Amino acid sequence: MAQDFKHLATALQTLDEATRLKLVELPRIIDEWLAPHGGLVGRRVLDFGCGFGEMAAGIAIGFDPAVVVGIDIGRGPIKGIERLEAWLGPGRLPSNLRLEQVTPGALGSVDPIDVVVSWSAVEHVAREALEKILRDLHARLAPDGVMMIQISPLYFSPAGAHLWPCDYGPWEHLQKSSAEVVADIAACAALNERQRKAVTEMFLELNRLTAPELIDLVQKAGFRVIRRHIERTDLTPPARLTDAYALDALTTEQVVLLLKKQG
Ligand SMILES: C[S@@+](CC[C@H](N)C(=O)[O-])C[C@H]1O[C@@H](n2cnc3c(N)ncnc32)[C@H](O)[C@@H]1O
Repeated sequence: MAQDFKHLATALQTLDEATRLKLVELPRIIDEWLAPHGGLVGRRVLDFGCGFGEMAAGIAIGFDPAVVVGIDIGRGPIKGIERLEAWLGPGRLPSNLRLEQVTPGALGSVDPIDVVVSWSAVEHVAREALEKILRDLHARLAPDGVMMIQISPLYFSPAGAHLWPCDYGPWEHLQKSSAEVVADIAACAALNERQRKAVTEMFLELNRLTAPELIDLVQKAGFRVIRRHIERTDLTPPARLTDAYALDALTTEQVVLLLKKQG
């Protein structure tokens, strides 16, 4: 396995922690999960909702897949190529990496797919669209293919509003109306006008999936769960919320699923 990041040592020293996590740590975690199921070497990988493509790049650089295609409906893939070239140096982009901006519902150019990975993206897809995407991914996945989906933070968990730039407190979004949250974003000093608009849209579009709902959706699309990891918060939700919402939903921060085709 090509897990040698030494040639990137200089580039990695200049990276912030979040980027290093996506470029180095997440690909390692994915490789560890996939090892008993064919691994990453030589496989055709799709990163669904790749953002700037750091994780896709880390897989392409470190784990010798045949190809990694990162897809996103935003401009992340375009900006991501520029950013990766700036870090790695001209001409150092891995030849097995492609980042593609797609229209909603499209799955990019890799077909068939051996491995789908999706990190912190599925909670941003409207439920109806997600149901179709999961069915299409199932259809495009090779018979021995696997899919790994991670969501964090889940909507009903303490930071589920994804409003960390606005210093939102634990479960604050569940104790306010949507209009109040939108007003808080509009007043958020850490964001510029363009960011406020984007963050407002992002908040309103969160699909509010819980971990059991995600499991139900993937099973309905024909997948079988072969490994799952659930992380919970140590914080105690306010009584007002435990009266209204299931404790499990309020305290489950992260879900990670490894899935295979049924049968
Ligand atoms: C929070 S970002 C995560 C990006 C990346 N996975 C990461 O961890 O840095 C979620 C991404 O999902 C993308 N997204 C939402 N719906 C999508 C869809 N239908 N197809 C592809 N990407 C989508 C968004 O544009 C956004 O870039």
